[in-house]
Amino acid sequence: MDHINTKKIKIDPLNISDELINIAAKFLLSGEIVAFPTETVYGLGAIATDSSAIKKIFKIKNRPLDNPLICHFHSIDHISKYVQQIPDELYELNEKLWPGPLTVILFKKNNISPLVTKDLPTIAVRIPSNPIILALIKKINLPLAAPSANLSGLPSPTKAEHVISDFKNNLPLVIDGGDSKYGMESTVIDLTTTPPKILRPGAIPFENIKKILPNISTDKDNHGRILSPGMKYKHYSPKTKIIVIKESYIKNVQEIEDLVQKIKGKKIILCTNKDHKHSLNTIQLGSNLKNIQTNLYSSFRELDNLNLEFGIFEEVIDEKEGSAIMDRVKKASFQIL
Ligand code: TXA
Ligand code: MG
Repeated sequence: MDHINTKKIKIDPLNISDELINIAAKFLLSGEIVAFPTETVYGLGAIATDSSAIKKIFKIKNRPLDNPLICHFHSIDHISKYVQQIPDELYELNEKLWPGPLTVILFKKNNISPLVTKDLPTIAVRIPSNPIILALIKKINLPLAAPSANLSGLPSPTKAEHVISDFKNNLPLVIDGGDSKYGMESTVIDLTTTPPKILRPGAIPFENIKKILPNISTDKDNHGRILSPGMKYKHYSPKTKIIVIKESYIKNVQEIEDLVQKIKGKKIILCTNKDHKHSLNTIQLGSNLKNIQTNLYSSFRELDNLNLEFGIFEEVIDEKEGSAIMDRVKKASFQIL
C-alpha cells in the first residue's frame, strides 16, 4: 500500500467551516476517498458515480467485492434522481426519521458506479443527520457512497482516532468531527419487497419503525436466511475474545462473578447494569440502552488496547436499542455462557 500521510482536519459540527468543507469536497471531486463523521459511525466515502474512487474503498478496507455500499444523499429529491421510484411509505419515513440513521433499499436507476451495488437491481440510500457530512453532500450535490471507515472485520469506528488507528497514514483525508452520537450503524430496511423487511437491526429500534410501517417483518420471521449481503460476514470483532453471560439482567452480581471467576486469563467485565457493583475489573458501558449502544464499539477497541484475553459482556434485553446491541455482540462473540 502506498504511504500517503493522512491530512487531518477538525470540524466543529455546531459551527461548520465552509472553508474546510470545500477542502473535503475538492478531495472527493478529484477522485480521492475521505473519512468523515456521521451520527452512526465514521464513514469512508467516495463519489458514487466515480468507479475508480469506489475501487479504492474496497481495496483499502479489504472489503469483499460482493458487499454493496450505502449511498448518502442530502434530500429525498436528491435520492429521486438515482432510483426508479420513491414508494409512498418513504415519504412518511422521510418525514419522521430522516435525516437520521435509517437506510432504505430501493430499485436503482443505472446512473451510479456498478461497483457500488454489484449486480443487484437495488441501491441502499440514506440521508444522514450529522451536520458535517450533510454539508459535504450538499456541497458536492452528488451521492456519496460510504461503508464504515474500519478495516473489514474490525469494530466500526466511533472516533476519528479509530479510523487513524485502522488505516495508519494511508488515507488522503480524515475529518474529525468528534464522537459518533449513536455509535451503531444505521438500521437497514428493504422497501422493494411486500411486506417491507428489516435487513439489519441498527441505531433506530425496530419498534420505532414498526409504528410507521406496521406490516414490516423482522429478520426473526426470516428463518435465519441472510438478507443483506453484508450480514453473512463475521463482523465487528475485537481481537479480545468476547464471552456473553446470558440473561445477566436477571442474574445477581454474585452469580455473574462466580461465572466470571471460572474464566482463566486476563479479563474484564463489560457491565451493562448500573446497579451491578462488581469487585472484578469492569468497564461500565452506560446506565441505559442508548448509552450502552453509543459506547459498545469503542469499548471493544479498548479491550484490544488493554491486551486482554476476554471481555465478558453482560447480555442486555432484546428490545429497543438492545436488539442491535445483541446482534453485534453475538456476531463478535466467541462463547455464550
Ligand atoms: O450507519 C451506517 O449505515 C454506516 C454509515 C457510514 O452510513 N455505513 C455502514 O456501511 O454501516 P457498511 O458498508 O458497513 O454496511 C452496509 C450494509 C451492508 O450490510 C450491505 O450488505 C448492505 O448495507 N447493503 C448495501 N446495499 C444493499 C442492497 N442493495 N441490498 C441489500 N443490502 C445492501
Ligand atoms: Mg461496516
